[in-house]
Amino acid sequence: MPQTPSVLFVCLGNICRSPLAEAALRHEAEKAGLNIAVDSAGTGSWHIGKAPDPRSCTEAQRHGIDISAYRARQVTAKDFDRFDRIVALDASNLANLRRIAPAGHPAGHRARLSLLLDHVPGLEGQDVDDPYFGGPEGFETTWRQVSEAARNLVSELSKTRD
Ligand code: 4NP
Repeated sequence: MPQTPSVLFVCLGNICRSPLAEAALRHEAEKAGLNIAVDSAGTGSWHIGKAPDPRSCTEAQRHGIDISAYRARQVTAKDFDRFDRIVALDASNLANLRRIAPAGHPAGHRARLSLLLDHVPGLEGQDVDDPYFGGPEGFETTWRQVSEAARNLVSELSKTRD
């Protein structure tokens, strides 16, 4: 019996980008009938316990998804054993994750690290820009990027289940 795949999305605050990535992957997996464990976290500690940014809640709501009950948490070394995949929203968070990774990385733990836009052909190596200091259009861009990555992750993960 194959294990349920598990994916953790990581940004800086866990209030803008990674909650949207979490919502998008839950949504795409459900549509595809893929059973999956999904969570999100931040490398920073400022927003622990907080709900997502209201602009992220509004953007998710525009796509019929309620993320208002999500709560921010900080990534921990244990996450590297708990998840198959840890997907960073940008290069700076990916670099921080490599620092947090338990000794023995990459062989000593389970999680495979990647950059979110590496899952979108044509946008490999690029950051999902932080929309925190900008206007609502930044959140629309974030949603577009995380949904496309989520669709591709679902097909990647479905193939590896076969
Ligand atoms: P996120 O956005 O990393 O997408 O959740 C941010 C949220 C808060 C801050 C920075 C980025 N901040 O500096 O408080």
